[in-house]
Amino acid sequence: MLTSAKCFILIGIAILRVSVTESQENEIPSEKKAQSVRDLFNTTSCIQPPYRCPHPKMQFFLYTRTTQEKGELLNTLDNRSLTASNFNPLHPTKIVVHGFGGGRNLSPSTDMRKAYFTRGNYNIIIVDYGSLVKEPCLSQIEWAPRFASLCITQLVEYLQYHPKKQVQPEQIHTIGYSVGAHILGLVANYLKVGKLGRITGLDPTIFFYMGNNRSRDLDHTDALFVDILHTGAGILGQWGPNGHADFYVNGGSSQPGCAHDTIFQTLSCDHTKVTPYFIESINSRAGFWAGPCSSLFSYLIGWCEPRDTEYVLMGEHVSHNARGVYYVTTNAKPPYARGFPGKSRRLRRQTSLTKS
Ligand SMILES: *[C@@H]1O[C@H](CO)[C@@H](O)[C@H](O)[C@H]1NC(C)=O
Ligand SMILES: *[C@@H]1O[C@H](CO)[C@@H](O)[C@H](O)[C@H]1NC(C)=O
Ligand SMILES: *[C@@H]1O[C@H](CO)[C@@H](O)[C@H](O)[C@H]1NC(C)=O
Repeated sequence: MLTSAKCFILIGIAILRVSVTESQENEIPSEKKAQSVRDLFNTTSCIQPPYRCPHPKMQFFLYTRTTQEKGELLNTLDNRSLTASNFNPLHPTKIVVHGFGGGRNLSPSTDMRKAYFTRGNYNIIIVDYGSLVKEPCLSQIEWAPRFASLCITQLVEYLQYHPKKQVQPEQIHTIGYSVGAHILGLVANYLKVGKLGRITGLDPTIFFYMGNNRSRDLDHTDALFVDILHTGAGILGQWGPNGHADFYVNGGSSQPGCAHDTIFQTLSCDHTKVTPYFIESINSRAGFWAGPCSSLFSYLIGWCEPRDTEYVLMGEHVSHNARGVYYVTTNAKPPYARGFPGKSRRLRRQTSLTKS
């Protein structure tokens, strides 16, 4: 029997194969070409021992409304670092953990920050561990998330016990995309006192779910409130449900506007659509209203008729009392949010059945 780590690596390799083939076959302008074969097997970016937190390749950058352009590097071994920073414990604190190949200066992180600062004052801490989750570092995949979560726990405790700018774990909202969602789930295993206030999982990948050890998965025991958005469920995303509230967007597996020429493009498009939905939810007036339904099948054929009071907002402004599985339909292009569906079930039937 395969261990989850092995499955993970096998799938990882399968995907690498597909992307290698693609970049050879399609003529993509060189600046757009994601990776050459040489890059894929270049392991110099993988992290080196000793594996101690904080690690030079595992950094925390603080952004506030007045320091939007340039993050401040936090040193969790020195209380003066937070004291001297623009961190304000009276403002909401968000910790954001990106997925494979992400980074603090790359798209989901930058767009998400912009959306929050449009709304108001926040302390946004981006966990930058880009080189830990680059594809060539396959041998690190088994332990890298665990190592990342240990370092994030150190950050949470740094805030928890800080002499001047204390913030309790319960007040912190953490947001994890893809493998980042699993990393946040693991923080619960290490945090000695208290519990994270909220974990938002943005399409957790199925890789880690294939193990049979629940302490490795993101689930509702990992924070006071766990909300999960599923967009690539079953393929790159995990099926769940796993949180207090699970949101399946457009059925949770295939996103409108995501029909591409190759299966790999389609899959990764479904998977990456989740961040724009979440980011739009931060400032959306219309809102992503989601309703409960007894099954995905009933939802797809338009049989669900939730009462108006049963709808909840998906995303940033979700009610922490939301429980169970919800379905939401979006537009294929921004603005994605369709507003309150109330009695208009016609819309929902249309998108679910015209998907390619
Ligand atoms: C591997 O990557 C490093 C930094 O990411 C770069 O400096 C080096 O030239 C690369 N090596 C090859 C063989 O591409
Ligand atoms: C920061 O201050 C707290 C409270 O005085 C202390 O317990 C902790 O060890 C200090 N942390 C560091 C990294 O010096
Ligand atoms: C599950 O994983 C945790 C943390 O990795 C480990 O401590 C525990 O022993 C594992 N349990 C089983 C049944 O393998």
